[in-house]
Amino acid sequence: MTIQVVILAAGLGKRMHSHLPKVLHCLSGKSLLLHVVETAFVISPATQPVVVYGHQGKMLRDALAHYSIRWVEQREQLGTGHALLQALPIIPDDTRVLILCGDVPLITEQTLNKLIHATPSHALGMLTAHLSNPAGYGRIKRDKHHHIIDIIEEKDATEDERNIMEINPGIYFVPAHFLKKWLPLLNNKNVQSEYYLTGIIASAVQEHIPIHAVQPRRNEEIVGVNDRVQLAHLERFYQHEQAEKLMHQGVTLRDPARIDIRGEVRIGRDVVIDVNVIFEGRVVIGDECVIGANSILRDTELGKRVEVKAHSIIEGAKITDDCIIGPFARIRPDTVLAEQVHIGNFVEIKKSHIAKGSKVNHLSYIGDSDIGKHVNIGAGTITCNYDGINKHKTIIEDNAFIGSCTQFVAPVTIGEGATIGAGSTITRDAPPHTLTLSRAPQQTIEGWQRPKKKDES
Ligand code: UD1
Ligand code: CA
Repeated sequence: MTIQVVILAAGLGKRMHSHLPKVLHCLSGKSLLLHVVETAFVISPATQPVVVYGHQGKMLRDALAHYSIRWVEQREQLGTGHALLQALPIIPDDTRVLILCGDVPLITEQTLNKLIHATPSHALGMLTAHLSNPAGYGRIKRDKHHHIIDIIEEKDATEDERNIMEINPGIYFVPAHFLKKWLPLLNNKNVQSEYYLTGIIASAVQEHIPIHAVQPRRNEEIVGVNDRVQLAHLERFYQHEQAEKLMHQGVTLRDPARIDIRGEVRIGRDVVIDVNVIFEGRVVIGDECVIGANSILRDTELGKRVEVKAHSIIEGAKITDDCIIGPFARIRPDTVLAEQVHIGNFVEIKKSHIAKGSKVNHLSYIGDSDIGKHVNIGAGTITCNYDGINKHKTIIEDNAFIGSCTQFVAPVTIGEGATIGAGSTITRDAPPHTLTLSRAPQQTIEGWQRPKKKDES
């Protein structure tokens, strides 16, 4: 039977105190809803997940525009049962529905597959968890044979029921035809006057439909986000898990509590990462790289043995083996560095290709440039690539030597093996194997005297 995932995401999220719908708040750089949607696609790759939304539908659709989702509106938030009911008309009777929550982002495919495999086709499956602090959750009621007989919302619970530590995470796996029969029968006679989805448990019990309960591997998987404090806790938990995963794969983290991964990283062996490093987007790091403290790498690929020294920011770049970067370097998108390139402190590189063994070690801006092999660029060199309207290219061929404080007014080409004298403003091409310089001749004025202070009397 096909599995249809339905994600309930119409709740208000009042406690976030935000203009953004709750499920669009980010955990590890990705919206809560997207975490759940991606898990849904892993569980059931061939079917589009259904998302039940309530507020700011356009914002949600826009945020997930790249995903094939069926959106169902719940106009009024009358409860979880009412939310799911809105989705039922588009769900065929012969499917089994996996119900997830948009604000429970860390549920894993392993736990969901466990639930799916533990639930026979004519049964109801659900997750339960034992929490040391069950406050806020619906409690699981069991009879003396340990069979589940009901779920009681905290607000409707008696003192005794509140002492039950087994809770309802709100994740279920139910044949669609049961839902179609039971959901229209729900009433809202409870403290919150809501149509509770949990009412399906009582219906199953009444009809002697077996209920199978499965526990998550870790309780954090079923923690819902209701406010920013919970979001921050979950973020820390998730970061810690990712840090541990990296360490198990052979990465040394100087402090696993001080790394943030907001995206996907693939890191080779014997990589050492110092404190306060942030990875964003898709980052690939080869064997034996060293990443210095306070560096940020975004959508970047490093080869082997690359050393990124402290306080460097690298974005959208491809950096080949044995490069040394930083400290305090900024590498911007569309930069490609070949092997053994050195980029030093206070150097900015944008949209440039730098070939093997070249060095830009101090205080420079290199933009829209193509730099050959074994080029040495002196301190304070700048490519003037922008004329206010268009960007122009600077080409520097192999083995050129650029004296300090040179300005290249692009477009300009420096020939192979050329030398540029320090302090030059280069506006025309420099021929290969020559010395080119543009510099006002130095003068000394004999007998010149410094001005003296005027006599004040
Ligand atoms: C629900 C469960 C509770 C469980 C808890 C787990 C019910 C009646 N209670 O309670 O047993 O312990 O989740 O987190 O189901 N939603 C809608 N439309 C609505 C109301 C809610 O789409 O009208 C969505 C929310 O966006 C959220 C999910 O359903 O993703 C759960 O809603 P929420 O209000 O957080 O339910 P709880 O009261 O926490
Ligand atoms: Ca909740």
